[in-house]
Amino acid sequence: MEKSKSNSKKRIVVFASGNGTNAINLYHYFRDNEKVEVSHILSNNKKSRVLRRAHDLGIKCIHFDKEDLQESTNLLEVVKEINPDIIALAGFLLKIPESFLAVFPNQIVNIHPSLLPKYGGEGMYGERVFKRVLKNKDKESGITIHYVSTHYDEGETIAQFKIDLEDNEDLNSLEEKIHSLEYEHYPKEIEKLLF
Ligand code: GAR
Repeated sequence: MEKSKSNSKKRIVVFASGNGTNAINLYHYFRDNEKVEVSHILSNNKKSRVLRRAHDLGIKCIHFDKEDLQESTNLLEVVKEINPDIIALAGFLLKIPESFLAVFPNQIVNIHPSLLPKYGGEGMYGERVFKRVLKNKDKESGITIHYVSTHYDEGETIAQFKIDLEDNEDLNSLEEKIHSLEYEHYPKEIEKLLF
């Protein structure tokens, strides 16, 4: 039976490791929503900008260590207590353990800055992806929103969005294009999953 919630809003918990622009974008998108809230931002990186930004905005934050996630059940208990409807990874660099996937089946989603299966897998994140795309002189790129599975970037695709690349595309312009796609589509796709 579903645990009772202190309010009737659907809850999103965001896991992020770095800058957190997507995490904060999700927060702003749902801030005035009567049915959905980003209730917590969790990070494995104590010094991350995401935790500083979340703290400044008054969002509930939790820091945890890699071991908390992978070896102990404490973090899982904490997240179970929050009782999220969706866990959204946003620039989160650690692997989600099976214990989480078992408790939250089809409730953990990720955003990846390429058209998977291209440029996915362990170690492929952020700038590393963009450098490969540019090196290969790809004519198009994009983002993938997908369910999380036990393997990096291999869960079922929820949606993909594409952009055309110019001949003079560089790291900055590509990053900017990809981020705009992410900010536009990640909140909307999560909203669709919630209802
Ligand atoms: C985003 O572009 C996201 O797609 C990517 O990290 C960036 C985080 O930016 N995720 C991955 O590469 C996952 N493999 P942000 O911290 O500013 O949201």
